[in-house]
Amino acid sequence: MSQSGIGIAVTGSGSAVPIHSLDNDKLSQIVDTSDEWIAARTGIRSRRLATPEESLTTIASQAAQGAIAMAGLTPMDVDLIILATSTADDLFGSACQIQAELGAQKAVAFDLTAACSGFVFGLVTAAQFIRTGAYRTVLLIGADVLSRWVDWSDRRTCILFGDGAGAVVIQANDRDRLLGFELRSDGTQNQYLNLACQPQPYDLLEDLTIGRGSFQPITMNGQEVYRFAVRRVPEVIEKALFRANLTVEDVDWLLLHQANQRILDAVGERLHIPAEKIISNLASYGNTSAASIPLALDEVVRSGKIQPGDTIAASGFGAGLTWGAAVFQWGR
Ligand code: COA
Repeated sequence: MSQSGIGIAVTGSGSAVPIHSLDNDKLSQIVDTSDEWIAARTGIRSRRLATPEESLTTIASQAAQGAIAMAGLTPMDVDLIILATSTADDLFGSACQIQAELGAQKAVAFDLTAACSGFVFGLVTAAQFIRTGAYRTVLLIGADVLSRWVDWSDRRTCILFGDGAGAVVIQANDRDRLLGFELRSDGTQNQYLNLACQPQPYDLLEDLTIGRGSFQPITMNGQEVYRFAVRRVPEVIEKALFRANLTVEDVDWLLLHQANQRILDAVGERLHIPAEKIISNLASYGNTSAASIPLALDEVVRSGKIQPGDTIAASGFGAGLTWGAAVFQWGR
């Protein structure tokens, strides 16, 4: 519990994905790959892809509406909107457009970028605002449309990613349901996964050349990222559990960033968490970056699998490099 005596509770979830799906067989028409290769190496079978008309703002707002409704609130009850994304519709941020779309006039809104760790970083950020007494109701959205930034001729990366959005409502609560967390960053390994600005030289004056904005597509060293995830994720979860004064036996659900089934299995094995406690929906959606944790959470909440009071160990990891874990209980 915080010094102020104010705790937090996650009281609603929602999600939304684009209509169009691209399965592995169809993807094999675009690059030299196969359903067998992708399924065996990643567990992914299909992914959703946004059309130019389906903006990040649209799917993020849909997910947010679901979360607000589940919490029994209206958009006017929201004090703060945090949009975790790396693929805003606008480089200045998309959270304000979502605020307008929802009609959440009272809410202050900003974007938070921490790649695939964005949801966990956002959850911890939201908790700080609530625990200090600054705000009582936070809407946290994780949403990404990485399909815009994938090199669709690179079979090493384009098979992995998909688009989607997930959201949760986090409210002030007598009992603090965020039991422990740990966040980490290591910029020295940035080169293993990035979506970097690639400024194009532009002669503004004879003696002044500036860089005009453009981005190179996602580049990744798959083996290094795999090694990083399998080593660092169990570590950070153990640290968050330690801070929560819990052990792995207390975990009801392991909710990892949905990057790769082999990573999920390896982390589960290292932590001795049985497969039936590991939430996985990446076969249908691939890696949806900041959306993957709240999207998977919303599915299991709505299916009735997760019950109020269940202890969830969530962990995000990805570009930055960033990684982190949050141990929380669902509901008030
Ligand atoms: N279809 C068929 N063959 C493919 C392929 C594809 N989509 N992608 C790569 N290959 C080939 C390679 O060309 C290579 O062939 P070669 O040995 O003849 O050169 C072979 O498969 C092995 O490639 P490699 O890159 O070593 O595969 P891998 O076992 O490391 O698997 C990943 C690749 C991407 C699935 C794996 O590294 C991974 O999941 N890494 C983590 C990525 C991730 O999760 N990123 C996001 C984190 S947020």
